[in-house]
Amino acid sequence: MEERLQKIISRAGIASRRKAEEMIAAGRVTVDGTVVREPGTKADAASVRIAVDGKLLPREEQRVYFLLNKPKGYVSTAADERGRRTVLDLIPVKKTRIYPVGRLDQNTEGLLLLTNDGTLTQALLHPRFLVHKTYRAKVAGDLTPEALKKLRGGVELADGRTAPAEVRVYGTTDKGLNEVEVTLHEGRNRQVRRMFEAVGCDVRSLKRTRFAQLTLDGVKRGAYRPLTKAEVRELYRLVEKI
Ligand code: URA
Repeated sequence: MEERLQKIISRAGIASRRKAEEMIAAGRVTVDGTVVREPGTKADAASVRIAVDGKLLPREEQRVYFLLNKPKGYVSTAADERGRRTVLDLIPVKKTRIYPVGRLDQNTEGLLLLTNDGTLTQALLHPRFLVHKTYRAKVAGDLTPEALKKLRGGVELADGRTAPAEVRVYGTTDKGLNEVEVTLHEGRNRQVRRMFEAVGCDVRSLKRTRFAQLTLDGVKRGAYRPLTKAEVRELYRLVEKI
């Protein structure tokens, strides 16, 4: 993943981004041995050697990004003290430690990203960037026009009012459950379940089908795939101001 040199230098703890820009302009920074003075030059910290005043920055770990179709029954913490199965059991990556980007409840299935890129993870989870996530839920209870209005406009939860959401009822199951698609721009703990509880309904099953531009297309339940470079670039573009 290419990033601006000043960002890589500041992440290494050498200087602030602004100071790093000055260092670049002053010809104190090299990439693979060549002085780089051009402001805004980008490099992939995991595949080149960057030095400041002749001193190499520590090599960064190769970043990896996976999209998992999480089945029910797995927790999304990295290690579970109660010995339950975790999403990491589904992705046998050896050389590096990866972490889920946010969480899905044990009984929620669907799209979960995992990576060792802490910067991107934090940015994607930050409410400021309004990364949208779409869920499909089967819901018991009466979804009255008032309930839908509340869900869309914001419902009062114990941790505050929810931001506006898109909510669309698209069917009913043969057991009489409402099939609802919900798109949120925030990601609080158990948010979808709690929103429906707040309007007197009960979520019986929940699946995340979309995270930003990413969908589950071609990824079977329990399977995963690496993100393409273009997909990673697109995620970075969403949170560019980090
Ligand atoms: N909302 C929930 O209630 N649960 C999840 O796992 C994700 C969103």
